[in-house]
Order: sequence, then C-alpha cells, then structure tokens
Amino acid sequence: MKSKWSITTRLTLLFAIVSSGVLLAFSGIVISAIEKHFVEQDTDALHGKMVLVESAVARVRAPQELQALGQLLHDAFVGHDDLVMLALAPDGTTLHASAGIDFPLDQIRRIASAGRVDTFDWQAGKQAYRGLVKTIRSSIPPAAGSSSIVVAIAIDIDHHATFMARFGKTLSALAAAAALTCGLLGWLIAHRSLAPLRQMKEQASAVTANRLDTRLPEASIPVELAGLAETLNQMLERLEDAFKRLSDFSSDLAHELRTPITNLTTQTQVALSIPRDAQSYRETLGSNAEEFEHLSRMISDMLFLAKADHGLMLPSSTSIGIEQEVVELFDFYDALAEERQVTLSVDGDGQITGDRLMFRRAISNLLSNALRHTPMKGRISVHIQSAGSQTSVTVENTGQAIAAEDLPYLFDRFYRADKARTHTSSEGTGLGLAITKAIVTAHRGRVEVTSDSSGTRFTLIFPR
Ligand SMILES: Nc1ncnc2c1ncn2[C@@H]1O[C@H](COP(=O)(O)OP(=O)(O)OP(=O)(O)O)[C@@H](O)[C@H]1O
Ligand SMILES: [Mg+2]
Repeated sequence: MKSKWSITTRLTLLFAIVSSGVLLAFSGIVISAIEKHFVEQDTDALHGKMVLVESAVARVRAPQELQALGQLLHDAFVGHDDLVMLALAPDGTTLHASAGIDFPLDQIRRIASAGRVDTFDWQAGKQAYRGLVKTIRSSIPPAAGSSSIVVAIAIDIDHHATFMARFGKTLSALAAAAALTCGLLGWLIAHRSLAPLRQMKEQASAVTANRLDTRLPEASIPVELAGLAETLNQMLERLEDAFKRLSDFSSDLAHELRTPITNLTTQTQVALSIPRDAQSYRETLGSNAEEFEHLSRMISDMLFLAKADHGLMLPSSTSIGIEQEVVELFDFYDALAEERQVTLSVDGDGQITGDRLMFRRAISNLLSNALRHTPMKGRISVHIQSAGSQTSVTVENTGQAIAAEDLPYLFDRFYRADKARTHTSSEGTGLGLAITKAIVTAHRGRVEVTSDSSGTRFTLIFPR
C-alpha cells in the first residue's frame, strides 16, 4: 500500500524516535550501572560492620556474658542512624534489636540457616533496607549448649531510591527534549533539502504550450534530483519539438490550402463577372477540376500521414519480393519514361516482410520524383541489396544535384527543394517523401539520401 505520509513527516518522526530510543537505551545502561555501584557500596559497608560485630561476639566465652554483648552492640550502633541491627541469642531470643524497626524475622532465620552471604532487600513501612545476615560462632564452649548468634545488619537505602527516582526523571526529560530537538532538526533538514523540489514544481507549473522553452535548472540542485531534472528537461525538449512541428504543420497546411482555394475563387469570380460562351465556362470548369484534384490528393495524403503518426499503419504483413514489385511499377511508369526517353533498370533482389500496398506507394513516390527530375535521355536505376540483417532499395537518377542545404529537409512535409515551382497544381504537394519516410518507419526501417553531380540516390533500408 502506498503511504500518504510526506517525506518531511517521516524524517521528523524517524529522527525523534531514533534519538529518544538511543537515549532511553543509554539511560537503562547508566541506571543499572549506578544501581550495581550502590549495591557494592552497601555490601562493603555492611561487611565492614559485620567484622566489628564478629570480633565482639568472639569475645563472649560464657552464656552469662550474652546480656553484656547486647548492651555492647547497642552502644556500638548509637549515632549510626542509617544502620540498624538485630542479634538473636543461640536460644532464639532477641539479644538486641534497633528500636522501632520491624525486622523480617522469618526471612532472616531462613537466610541464616541457608548460610547465604549476599545482601537482601526489604521494606519496613515506608523505609527500604538492604541487609546482611550472618551466623557467628561465639567462644562459649560447646558443652554449655548452642553457641551461634545470628546477626542481621541493615542499611537504610531510601536515599538511593530517592536519587534514582530523581535521576530517572531527569533522564526522561532529557529523552523528551532530545526527541523534540532531533524531530525539529529532521523537519528542518527535510524541509530545506526538499526546497529544490518545490522550486522545480513551481517552474514546472509555469510550463504552458506558449512557454515550452522553459527548462529546469540542473546545476543548482542536489545530485539526487539532477537526474530527474535532466529527464524532465529532455521530456520538455521532445514536447517542444513535437509541438513546434505540429504548429509548423498546421501553418504550412493553411498556407498550402490557401493558394489552390484562392485560385479557384478568382477563376470562378472572373468567369461569373460577365456572360460568356459555353467554351470558356468549360475551360474554367476544367481548370477548377484540376485544382480540386490537387486539393483532394493533398487531403488524402494528409489523412494518410495523420494515420501514420497515430501508429495505425501496417494493415497487413506479408513477404514481399522487391524486384517483382519494382518491375510492376516500371510497367506503370513505362509510357511516361518513353516519352522522356528515360531508361529504367533494376538489379539485385531481396525480400522484406510488410504491407505490399504501402511498400509500393513508398517506391512509387521515389520513382515519380525521379521521373520528374531526370532530364531527357537520362537514366533511372533501382538497386536491391541484401546484406547482413538489412535489405536496401536504392532509387538512383541522373540529373542536377540537390543543394546540400536542402538534403536534411527533403523528408519534411510540404518541403520542396525547388522553391520556384511551388503552388502549381501540376506539381506535387510536397508530401511524397514524407509519406515514403512514414511508411519505411512503420516497417522499422530508415531512409537516406545522397546527391551529387553524378545523380541523386534515395535509399530505403529495411531490417530483415
Ligand atoms: N530525384 C530527385 N531529384 C531532385 N530533387 C528531388 C528528387 N526527389 C525529390 N526532390 C525534391 O524534393 C522535394 C520533395 O519531394 P516530395 O516527393 O516530398 O514532394 P513533391 O514531389 O514535390 O510532391 P508529391 O510527391 O507530394 O507529389 C521535391 O519538391 C523536389 O524538389
Ligand atoms: Mg514526390
């Protein structure tokens, strides 16, 4: 599914989550290290006290001295408000217990009998304690009964808890502040980094049909976006080119249509201006018919080209024997060639796959051009060649060379190299070569032309 979150939102959230996550993990490590340190500190202090108690207990040699030991321990702990102590006589009675403290007797006895040496924590009312329990052997002889005294010393750890709570609060505030700061930073970076994109958007929205020459700046934007700008610019260039050709084409078209229609109007108006005899009306109508034919040919050519532009070409695809087609076209042009004493010849052979009628039309356009431009007693030869992956057909005719500056434009619509001869109904429409090129392109081929004093050669190259 496509996410609708903006890049800025995503980066902002990512920055915030990652930074607070890192800080929280770090806080966890620090808190556990501090807690461990507190435990070690407490353990050390408790063991130190325990050593003192042990030496006092060791001096007890008879059960009667136990009472004095209780007093001694009481005196030893006076002034140590954070330390509390419980001492149990061998018979289980309490020798000494710090005043007002509720010792967990069961737990202490259990630890004593298990002989555990590590500390344990307990809660007495609102106070929290960490304690150490030890069973200490006195110097009372075994004959006088049990001699072990259970001693529990505990330390008030409330200040640790208070410190940790404060520390935890500070860290949480820090994590929140870091999340906020990093989120803000993320937003700022994303916002600033995306500025060129907004700029591109603004520039792109200014592109209209009349302003297709607008280009996005490629130099001033980050490399990540330069590729996009370049692609968009290339697209604009193609659009501009296509648009220019289209508008050129429509203005050419209007221009081309205007001349024959003006001719028709003038001739008709002149004929109608005064009463005339039947013969002159016939002449006017005959001349009009010629113009109409020219117009209708131009319109059907244009329709053909429009179809070619929409890729509606190649209605059928068969194998075409090129030489056979050329020979049949020669039959059609024979009379005209004979009249102008032009010799027609064909050599080589080859096959292509495509639409026969369209292929004929392409070659026919070349032959009719050649016939029109070959001087009396000239020669038109067609060479067919199959080499490698290509089959080519060259139509060559003797005659004046086409000017080098005209060559690149010959295949454009309405282009005529000989400007003086345009707009006469007997001449062509200037669409013949454009149609030939469209047909060859539809067959995935290409066209080439060369011209020099020895003659003019149009070559159609088809893939096999
Ligand atoms: N074999 C050739 N020798 C010299 N010039 C040529 C030759 N073939 C084409 N041309 C030039 O190229 C121009 C364009 O040819 P194209 O076939 O497109 O138009 P056309 O022959 O004038 O009209 P249409 O073919 O539509 O009747 C011609 O007007 C002519 O000036
Ligand atoms: Mg022509």
